[in-house]
Amino acid sequence: MKRGVRTPAPSNEQLAGGGLQRRVEALLARMTLEEKVGQLAQYSVGTPTGPGTGRSDYETLVRAGAVGSMLNVVGAQETNRYQRIALEQSRLKIPLLFGFDVIHGYRTTMPIPLGMAASFDPALVEQAMHLAATEAAAEGIRWVFSPMVDIARDPRWGRVAEGSGEDPFLGAAMARAYVRGYQGPSLSESTSVAASVKHFAAYGGAEAGRDYNTVDMSEVSLRQTYLPPYQAAIEAGSATLMSAFNTLNGVPATANAHLLTDILRGEWGFNGFVVSDWTAVAELRNHGIALDGPSAALKALSAGVDMDMESHLYAPELPRLVREGKLSQAVVDKAVRRVLRVKFALGLFEHPYVDEKVAAYVATPEKRELARRLAEESIVLLENKGGVLPLSPGRKVALVGPLADAPVDMLGTWNGKGDPRDVVTLRAALEHRLRGTPGALRHARGTEVLSADSSGFAEAVAAARASDVVIAALGEDTNMSGEAASRTRIELPGNQLQLLEALAATGKPVVLIVFSGRPLALTEAQRQVAALVQAWQPGIEAGPALANLLWGDVDFSARLPITFPRSLGQVPLYYNHLNTGRPAGQTDLTRPASNGVEKYVSRYLDERNTPLYPFGHGLSYTSFDFSPPQPSAPSLQARAVREQRGEVLRVKTQVRNAGARPGTVVAQLYLRILGTSLAQPVRQLVGFQRVTLAPGESRELEFPLGFQELSFFDARATRVVEPGTRYELWVGDSSEATRHASFTME
Ligand code: NOJ
Repeated sequence: MKRGVRTPAPSNEQLAGGGLQRRVEALLARMTLEEKVGQLAQYSVGTPTGPGTGRSDYETLVRAGAVGSMLNVVGAQETNRYQRIALEQSRLKIPLLFGFDVIHGYRTTMPIPLGMAASFDPALVEQAMHLAATEAAAEGIRWVFSPMVDIARDPRWGRVAEGSGEDPFLGAAMARAYVRGYQGPSLSESTSVAASVKHFAAYGGAEAGRDYNTVDMSEVSLRQTYLPPYQAAIEAGSATLMSAFNTLNGVPATANAHLLTDILRGEWGFNGFVVSDWTAVAELRNHGIALDGPSAALKALSAGVDMDMESHLYAPELPRLVREGKLSQAVVDKAVRRVLRVKFALGLFEHPYVDEKVAAYVATPEKRELARRLAEESIVLLENKGGVLPLSPGRKVALVGPLADAPVDMLGTWNGKGDPRDVVTLRAALEHRLRGTPGALRHARGTEVLSADSSGFAEAVAAARASDVVIAALGEDTNMSGEAASRTRIELPGNQLQLLEALAATGKPVVLIVFSGRPLALTEAQRQVAALVQAWQPGIEAGPALANLLWGDVDFSARLPITFPRSLGQVPLYYNHLNTGRPAGQTDLTRPASNGVEKYVSRYLDERNTPLYPFGHGLSYTSFDFSPPQPSAPSLQARAVREQRGEVLRVKTQVRNAGARPGTVVAQLYLRILGTSLAQPVRQLVGFQRVTLAPGESRELEFPLGFQELSFFDARATRVVEPGTRYELWVGDSSEATRHASFTME
């Protein structure tokens, strides 16, 4: 499919299909009001993933036909057990739909989503998410609360870990990959699960990076920056969508008809169902837009929330509201139809149970191989001073730090059914690699992730002194990012920087490996080290992937999906910002703002404007040259671009591996539009490709551009292409790419 061409996704079509509608209508006609509302209720059984509601009579509820879906029921025996109650003891025998937070793997834990995004490899992510779907579906989980596609520009927000970073174009590509991986060619396949794109919408815009906080933004920013990944997931066929916790311009997303009805259904033609986030319906009271439970339920359902996750409000309030004449039964029916459609499309009525023998997890070399490849592609080389990496064989290594041997902390947030015993840590991988050489590896913990105790420093320093190179495994533990894990300090936690300084003081080259679920402010750390590697939380193959990269068996190919600031004061900091009327430009921001030229520009007195590492940055063991981009035409007609929905321009460039080793580059194409009615970002990503080249090899790359890439939102928040504008293009291997060309729009 060409980008910019809208073809209805298979499952969205499937959900609108006639045969399915007839089955839904036949069933609906037999349902009581209570049974209908039951389909709209979702309860959590097992380990809760939100504030507890303290109910335990779920079997009774299932028997009464008062439950449509359950979350957090884990294991084939448990899903089968509840399913049996629904099918054998409830009047209408409607199967339950089991949902779970399968976010970056079910049992085979992959890197966290922010890491997967760094691969710029949607095809591999699709494969990995298909594996996750297969593992979950084998246990009866046919619905996953993923992809999380919230654009995030604030590293204080712990949930940056769960998304694909700051860029709408990359975010959209990843969103499609997740949905395709989960849902496969058809929802009815036994290995397919329904996706739930979340959190709609703009949850990542939380003020000050504090989770669940207020979001306030223009309709133009919403559409240009935040909505594209959700829309891409819907176009790829996501069968469900989760509404967000936050308010958007004052209206809570869970009672937001503009989002859930006008945009989602009206503009995007969504046929699936909407589930609220956990207790988000009840939280309408805390937002202050509902006086009580009944009005919260009424507002959420009327806005377009079909299923209530854990608020325990749709049942019993909706039947009461209907009987009191405050809610039309037709509104309830509409929501029930949407839920039933997904259940029918999944084939749950035909195949409600799973085979408990088949469900047993089997660790295969292929699963590990996939997890390792994705980890290798997600780990970013940020700094390599004097070519300290790759490490040569025979060098004696001191492995230091609290994360060198921390299995749980390799799994990351939302590790599903991930098992720390599956993890091969960096320590285990290095022991294996260096096993033949006595004294080649010394290990010392040095400190804890969050500690002021420096009593372990001496042992770490001694190990460094006795070795040729230090590998320091530092950063955050698994609980420091993810939901409800915002931070106001984003440097290395505890006394880890002091440990790093003590190691650097030995004079031995230090290779710092940062494990974290967010960009940390690494300015001080970076000064101490010879090499800097951002590993995120890499999953079960953390150790082998890192070892392969550090010794150069595999080249680094990942690029940053999010900006790394120099200091927290710069936040929010992102590459696709507006220019301002007084951009700092070439001003020397290291000098004091003493005269007019240096003072009256958009700058800080005490910090540069630029990030420590920009979006798209990442080194490899070789280097790449790009020829200037060549647009296929020097000018385009705005009317033709508007009318033609496919490719309208092709940009070519030649990329060459200019080094002595084979390597993979992520070629990136950026665009700026000048002369527009509304100021546009200084750059925005409009294309990327991973390209592997032998030393000296070159390849011609082509980037197709269409209406989607060439248009922008005007003051009425409508997508437009304006005549009389100029388009600037840059191609290269980061958002600071310099090879440039331009064309005009007539
Ligand atoms: C709340 C989280 O915001 C959401 O992402 C998750 O899917 C649900 N809880 C269910 O666990």
